[in-house]
Amino acid sequence: MTEGAAVPASTTAAKAVTGTEPVSPDAIEVEAPETAREEVLVLDFGGQYSQLIARRIRECGVFAELLPHTIEVERIRERRPGALVLSGGPASVYSEGAPELRRELLELGIPVLGICYGMQAMVHALGGRVEGAEAGEFGRTPLLLADGGGRLLSGLPREQQCWMSHRDSVFEPPPDFVALASSPGSPVAACESPERGLYGIQFHPEVVHTPYGTEILDRFLRNVAGLEERWSPASVIEEQVERSRAQVGDAAVICGLSGGVDSATAAALVHEAVGDQLTCVLVDHGLLRKNEAEQVVETFRDLGIKLIHVEAQDRFLERLAGVTDPERKRMIIGEEFIRVFEEEAKGLADARFLVQGTLYSDVIESGGDGRAGAETIKSHHNVGGLPEDLDLELVEPLRMLFKDEVRAVAAELGLPDRIVWRQPFPGPGLGIRIVGGEVTAERLEILREADAILQEEIRAAGLYRELWQSFCVLPVVRSVGVQGDGRSYAYPIVVRAVTSADAMTADWARLPYDLLERVSNRIINEVQGVNRVALDISSKPPATIEWE
Ligand code: XMP
Repeated sequence: MTEGAAVPASTTAAKAVTGTEPVSPDAIEVEAPETAREEVLVLDFGGQYSQLIARRIRECGVFAELLPHTIEVERIRERRPGALVLSGGPASVYSEGAPELRRELLELGIPVLGICYGMQAMVHALGGRVEGAEAGEFGRTPLLLADGGGRLLSGLPREQQCWMSHRDSVFEPPPDFVALASSPGSPVAACESPERGLYGIQFHPEVVHTPYGTEILDRFLRNVAGLEERWSPASVIEEQVERSRAQVGDAAVICGLSGGVDSATAAALVHEAVGDQLTCVLVDHGLLRKNEAEQVVETFRDLGIKLIHVEAQDRFLERLAGVTDPERKRMIIGEEFIRVFEEEAKGLADARFLVQGTLYSDVIESGGDGRAGAETIKSHHNVGGLPEDLDLELVEPLRMLFKDEVRAVAAELGLPDRIVWRQPFPGPGLGIRIVGGEVTAERLEILREADAILQEEIRAAGLYRELWQSFCVLPVVRSVGVQGDGRSYAYPIVVRAVTSADAMTADWARLPYDLLERVSNRIINEVQGVNRVALDISSKPPATIEWE
């Protein structure tokens, strides 16, 4: 034990324990000290599911934050978390440059759960045996509990399925540890030392393919760490309202709206805090979907939030004339957006703050550690975002939230379903969905009408929320058709609908044939200038979601 580690002297499981009692009630067990905060820190060792671990813990009602595994131990001590979780990662504990687990992290006097690499690193650091097995284990794997499953797994079925993804295995737990389970490729698939507050599982409890995964995380949080179910996305509202109020004081605040759920929620939250000090700006670049701007205007009017609707369609079209290169289109739209936004901001002379709907995933992906500082947003996705030299201080009330949590907050704040559940939409909008050619008013009109039909039919079929995105693309080519008595020479419309968890990978959605038939018929019959509808059946990778 390092000096100063706050190991509680308690010899009992003093906190409320739900479900199964600890196996050995007499043992000295490490629990979160009374002074600990109701939060869990997840240290990221590079695993593909690290974010998901944090999300699942939050779903269990405990706030969780993802931090790099290299974070100084002192910073963790200052945070006083109730427990630590060590994530998985791609390395082998023996390989050169493998992320190291510092022993001090296991001696903070709070429970630690190692998952996959996190468990192997723990075992390796404490003198157990981790080795490359003959074959790795990937995917669904049977798990067999030993001796009742110990404190972490007792009461769960002796035989169950779990999701594995590893090449090395634990062959012997460290001294003082008990092995709790095995699988065909993992002699020790789970182990624990309740006396030291250390727990490890080789499998991934955070993925849905481990049926008892959430239950195991829940047990760790409650039975082991004594944490209560207190956190919910809605509980963020009060805290963030207060924080925004304190940050802004009585200064004027400005917020750029895109029509999406993130900026709308950030604005609604800050409005709760400072009321009429907030002015929202909707730059209508003419690349929005049908009725989108009107819906935003209406919603904000209903919520009583000041909104300036800038109709800048002509400016954007003029600047886009003759441009066919997708990256140039993006750049022009981005630049023009900032210019228009700046002009409006200057009109609000005393504005000192800018509200942004930055999400936790943006913070993580841009290398931020979730505490402070990381102000860079992925450049690819910042169109419609921050004018950098605007000299305004950022207010980012959603910085700690995942997308689904933002939706919960949005609903709680009274935003309408249309905005709460809106699919992601790129900043450059329809501008990057007219591909291989210039953006013109006529093509925008065609694309907007076709897209409206697709949205309407997908909503009517009850599929809108199941899809990550669904939209139309207009390739600038013409093909021959027969319509009425004559031949037509018109544009095709491509229907793109994908399922995805985070847009990093995506699969094409298997839309029902009768829905596709209705969409195709309606687009060809109702939209002048289209004589053909095609369906994009490519996954990402190798294709991307958007066409440009
Ligand atoms: P891709 O096409 O790269 O898209 O598979 C992944 C996600 O990002 C969105 N996207 C953009 N969003 N500005 C944005 O704000 C852009 O330039 C842009 N390009 C793609 C896309 O809609 C999908 O959700």
